[in-house]
Amino acid sequence: ILNTIYSPQLMKYLASILLSVGFLPLSAQEIVINTNNTALVLRVDKDKRVYQTHLGKRLMHENEYALLPQMGEVCISNGNGNYFEPAFHFTNSKGNETVILKYVSHQVKKSDGNSTETVVLLTDSVRQNSVRLFYKAYPKENVIVTHSEIINNDKKPIALKKYASSMLHFRAQDYYLTQFNGDWAAEASITESKLGFGKKMIDSNLGTRANMFASPFFLLSLDKQADENNGQAILGTLGWTGNFRFTFEKDHENKLRVISGINPFNSEYQLKAGETFVTPEFIFTYSDEGTGKASRNLHNWARKYRVKDGEGDRLTLLNNWEATFFDFNEKKIVDLISEAKSLGLDMFLLDDGWFGNKHPRNDDKAGLGDWQPNKKKLPNGIKALTDAAKQQGVKFGLWIEPEMINPKSELMEKHPNWVVAWNDRERYYFRNQLVLDLSNPEVQNYVYDIVDGLLTTCPDIAYFKWDCNSPLTNIYSNYEKEHQSHLFVDYVKGLYKVLDRLKAKYPKIPMMLCSGGGGRTDYEALRYFTEFWASDNTDPIDRLYIQWGFSHIFPAKTICAHVTEWNRKVDLKFKVDVAMMGKMGFDLNFSTLPKADADFCKNAVKAYNGFKDIIFKGDLYRLVSPYSNTHTATMYVDEAQKRAVVFAFDIFPRYSTAESTRLKLQGLQANKMYKVKEINRYDGKDIEVGTFSGDYLMTVGMKAFSEHRLQSRI
Ligand code: DGJ
Repeated sequence: ILNTIYSPQLMKYLASILLSVGFLPLSAQEIVINTNNTALVLRVDKDKRVYQTHLGKRLMHENEYALLPQMGEVCISNGNGNYFEPAFHFTNSKGNETVILKYVSHQVKKSDGNSTETVVLLTDSVRQNSVRLFYKAYPKENVIVTHSEIINNDKKPIALKKYASSMLHFRAQDYYLTQFNGDWAAEASITESKLGFGKKMIDSNLGTRANMFASPFFLLSLDKQADENNGQAILGTLGWTGNFRFTFEKDHENKLRVISGINPFNSEYQLKAGETFVTPEFIFTYSDEGTGKASRNLHNWARKYRVKDGEGDRLTLLNNWEATFFDFNEKKIVDLISEAKSLGLDMFLLDDGWFGNKHPRNDDKAGLGDWQPNKKKLPNGIKALTDAAKQQGVKFGLWIEPEMINPKSELMEKHPNWVVAWNDRERYYFRNQLVLDLSNPEVQNYVYDIVDGLLTTCPDIAYFKWDCNSPLTNIYSNYEKEHQSHLFVDYVKGLYKVLDRLKAKYPKIPMMLCSGGGGRTDYEALRYFTEFWASDNTDPIDRLYIQWGFSHIFPAKTICAHVTEWNRKVDLKFKVDVAMMGKMGFDLNFSTLPKADADFCKNAVKAYNGFKDIIFKGDLYRLVSPYSNTHTATMYVDEAQKRAVVFAFDIFPRYSTAESTRLKLQGLQANKMYKVKEINRYDGKDIEVGTFSGDYLMTVGMKAFSEHRLQSRI
């Protein structure tokens, strides 16, 4: 009824009635942060405190936001008459723990692309501390990027004990949390749970290899568990290449608050007089059409605004890690470069083991830190290899792990104080290595110089794989003498300083972010990296799950997927099909493969080059989850909805499940006709399946699965 009789006058009248009965504060003012479909609404109350009133679907009539009931205070601080977890907690020099933040002003301005940035300034009038809250809204992508800044206007330092990037409030019937945890070789495994009263935390204390066990992202469903196409889903992620924490707290009134930011664990930070602390960005999207739409929102945003060269192409490659491990010489590498060429790949990538002379890198026990080519293995250096690649017409990429050091290295002999490690007790080694102390500017310069030096002496290096195999261990900084608790934060800031300088000098060079598999995957790092290594586990069955997990947050072009020898029981065709769903590469010794297999791979590279634009730029639809354990299917549709690629896998099908599981496609135009072909078959022969309307393919579907284990079709 309201809809039909709606008029602004009526709304004003209704609002005035509510005001008169005390529903709304007299001087309340709404701050509306809108995307095309989502609104985050804040209200400045008459006491100048700022509350959240809405986060969800954008309302049709903006003045109805004034009718919304008040939720929690926008960024609750310690000692604020509030009984649950605060977002901020600062102590001043007099030991005063209380901070009460009140509205001062807000501004709205245009930001990158079509986005608008709203900045709200709050201040504590008793203590000279202020907070600025930033909300950048990307209309088309329906993504909001938020962070906070803490400003110390006091004459003395303050200690930041909690300094969240964001606090969001929800009011729903129920809350379901999906998290993406795991381990080495089991990254981004999905678990779901219904949130009960109290707190649930997802966090990391690992420092460098920060998300070895838990990924810095989550999916929250409101009211009921969202599926791919239905329900309210929030995908959120922190852009921080270090310790993070998400706290989900449900209270006695069934309200939920979500606090996201740097993990305050062992990270109390002194903010000097006049200084500002900038927190990392929390990036989120809301969808009322299920998780599929939420992922597509993030993918679109990431390609356009965040990932390095997000809209550009990606290189197919041959990597030698599993083909040789540490055991290679110049000839072997030059042969592999020729194999990359004959396969039609864009690049050869030389992995670990190419450096160290006094302490040669022949295993993982020595050499890290000594980035000079090993004279025995590579007597003519890297330059001879980049020249060989140039001659063949393929690009050359190089593995580095510049943040790390083996105790058995010349670098350690020269700079024992550059490591993060205590000096007065036995040290613990993760993969026989230690982490260099990037909070120290001297170490930052050293790391920068390593990469810069390599690119100066070998300007034909066209790509880096930047690895990071150890978490921060033996937590003691020889540099942060007074403030050991700054280390976790300053390390990450130091890393960004190095990466900023490298990006400024070499803005174009693509880089793979790697951390003993997918131990570092976040949207701040991806400003500097074009892609990431999702996992050392390349068993294609496990990869179906791992890539499915990461696909919730990251676009396919950022997810490196290689064909290797892992799980010899699975056909090569199945492995290649799995890798084709991401940024495809190979890590095989082709000279040892039967000719038919090598020929199949060659054709596969050709086929991939023919449709990779759809994978890289298109919309992703997760059709059937691998967690069914019977089948899984994923499809990508190009922007014009003219071309699509569908990947269908039989995992462990039960009797008769293939017939009953007709695969319904998504994202097509119902009234258009589509020609369906099966491609990338092992026999090299494409099969014309038929021509169907988009309507038919989406409503009735097609036969894409079989009853045979570990088969696949594209
Ligand atoms: C861990 C990475 O995940 C692997 O791909 C490989 O580069 C090794 N490190 C090399 O040590």
